[in-house]
Amino acid sequence: MLNSLWNKTELDTDSADMSWEQFHESAKTGHYDAALSNEVVLAEMANLYESLPYKNSVPIALPSTLAPIAGALSDIMQARVTPREVAPHPISLTQLRTILHLAYGETRDNKDNPYAPRPFRTVPSGGGLYPLELYFYNGGQVDGLALGIYHYSPSLNAVQLTKSGDFTKEIAEGLVEFQSHLASQLSVIIFITAMFQRSVFKYRNKGYRFTLLEAGHVAQNINLAATGLGMGIMNIGGFYDRKIDDLLGLDGINHSILYMNGICRGEQK
Ligand SMILES: Cc1cc2nc3c(=O)[nH]c(=O)nc-3n(C[C@H](O)[C@H](O)[C@H](O)COP(=O)(O)O)c2cc1C
Repeated sequence: MLNSLWNKTELDTDSADMSWEQFHESAKTGHYDAALSNEVVLAEMANLYESLPYKNSVPIALPSTLAPIAGALSDIMQARVTPREVAPHPISLTQLRTILHLAYGETRDNKDNPYAPRPFRTVPSGGGLYPLELYFYNGGQVDGLALGIYHYSPSLNAVQLTKSGDFTKEIAEGLVEFQSHLASQLSVIIFITAMFQRSVFKYRNKGYRFTLLEAGHVAQNINLAATGLGMGIMNIGGFYDRKIDDLLGLDGINHSILYMNGICRGEQK
């Protein structure tokens, strides 16, 4: 119902033009802006999921270990590159877990910290609100996982199948035409999505900026983890947002795709 509504209300390029200036102005923190009290923020945080629960899908436990990352951080940072040739390559569950955990996994439970009622993660997060969710598409390269779209649960260290089957065609249609071939050439495609209200309730329009900044932190961790594991990594902004939201089952307003990161075979030496 909602899908059909917003599909029909897509703005043309002219009507959406230049709204970024107004948006950026409205998203500045001013000296006279009233902040919410800590009590209100903590009460709101108590209502937030750590990550979406997908109660109808049985969690598939991920390994508790990390795959070894070879090389010094400074070497890995300098080696990161968009691969010239993109080809799929098998990925073990431990390698997948390593990428997901380093991307957005939990590192501290904060059980003894009354001022931080939620666990913290590998990335910093404005207000510790963690507005992002991670999904991925396994087109058949992940060892032991059936074909389909999965959601990553950092608190369970598990993944949950949200849509079973081959979605290569749908992903190809969701990519801008010049790169639709990537759908079948990437081993795993990670989707970084945002539930904006988790940040916006506290930081108003600036909270929207915070979700984008956080997606950058997560994406860079994915880039460095994949590079450190000897894999290729493609960062993808050229997608049709509505198509990808539809595929993931997101309403596109409260919850929407921000970024796609595809894992593939590393450069052949
Ligand atoms: C936000 C963002 C979106 C991008 N989108 C695409 C994309 O859709 N397709 C693509 O081939 N590369 C994409 N790239 C990769 C850039 O083209 C690439 O990083 C840039 O050319 C620099 O090359 P390097 O990654 O090898 O350093 C994107 C990069 C960023 C940061």
